[in-house]
This record gives sequence, structure tokens and C-alpha cells, in this order.
Amino acid sequence: MKKIKPLIVSIVMGSQSDYKTMQYAEETLKKIGISFETKIISAHRTPKRMYDYALSAEKNNIGVIIAGAGGSAHLPGMISAITSLPVLGVPIESKKLKGLDSLLSIVQMPKGIPVGTLAIGKDGAINAALLSASILANNNSKIKTKLNIWRKRQSKSVKKKPK
Ligand code: RP5
Repeated sequence: MKKIKPLIVSIVMGSQSDYKTMQYAEETLKKIGISFETKIISAHRTPKRMYDYALSAEKNNIGVIIAGAGGSAHLPGMISAITSLPVLGVPIESKKLKGLDSLLSIVQMPKGIPVGTLAIGKDGAINAALLSASILANNNSKIKTKLNIWRKRQSKSVKKKPK
């Protein structure tokens, strides 16, 4: 009988410059113990790469896509237009508008093609990883256990009194 491979998280970003933010998504998935891949894919600089990636994402065993982008930030929306997999968008903090441009671009998807939008920058990257884990945990009890362990550790790390 063919063994069913567990689904992975795919982290994509528009530019190498986004990696300093998106590395926190990787770091979080590593800490929980969830398999992932990381790629640079730009909606405007490498449109064919984006199209081919999104078209074959399901076949490539991807369960959730985390897409980080800055400025016009159309990458998450364009990927979501091609695949029905869940797409989580991380607005990258841009130099000129501090990421407000990225946030509004990603969050304001017109009805019909959704992108789950997280906070700007590092917090968004971390929460995108945690939300991916929650999504995959619905059909994977091992991930559910790992995620709950991570959350319990987080609770324990909060001191009762300030120093
Ligand atoms: C977007 O343009 C990327 O997601 C990045 O946040 C932004 C700037 O890209 P670089 O000029 O640093 O390559 O496509």
C-alpha cells in the first residue's frame, strides 16, 4: 500500500530582502517540528515561476502556503488565484511606508479569492507559521501534539511577576 506523505508548509517570498523577516516563519516551524520548504518567487519579476509553483503546489504535497511580500505585495493574492490551498500573507515592512502599503495590498483582497493576512513583519511571520501548524493539525494528530507542547511552553515562559 502506498504510504501517504504528510503535508508540508511552503514559505515563499518576493525577494531575498524579505528573508530577514520570513526566517522567523522558518524558525517557528523548526521549533514546533513541522516540515517546510522555502523559495523566492516574485509575482512581477518571475511570473512564470510563480504560476508553475502555484499550479503544482497541491501535487507537491503542500498543505499551506505562507507568502511574504512588500510594497504592492500581490504575491499572496496571485498565488491564491491559481491554487485553492490556504494562503497566508505576511506584509513585509517596506522602507517608505513602514509596511502599511504591504498590509493594505494583502488584506484588501476583493471577494472570491481569499488571503489570510497576518501582522506586518516579524510578528506576522511567526504567527503565519503558528496558523499553518493549526491548519495542518486538523488532519494530523502528531502536529496537533507538537503545537500544543509549543503553546504550553510559551505559557510556562510567562512570569507571574515583573522584575
Ligand atoms: C517585493 O518588493 C518584495 O516582496 C520586497 O519586499 C520588495 C522589495 O524588493 P527588493 O527591491 O528588495 O528586491 O516584490
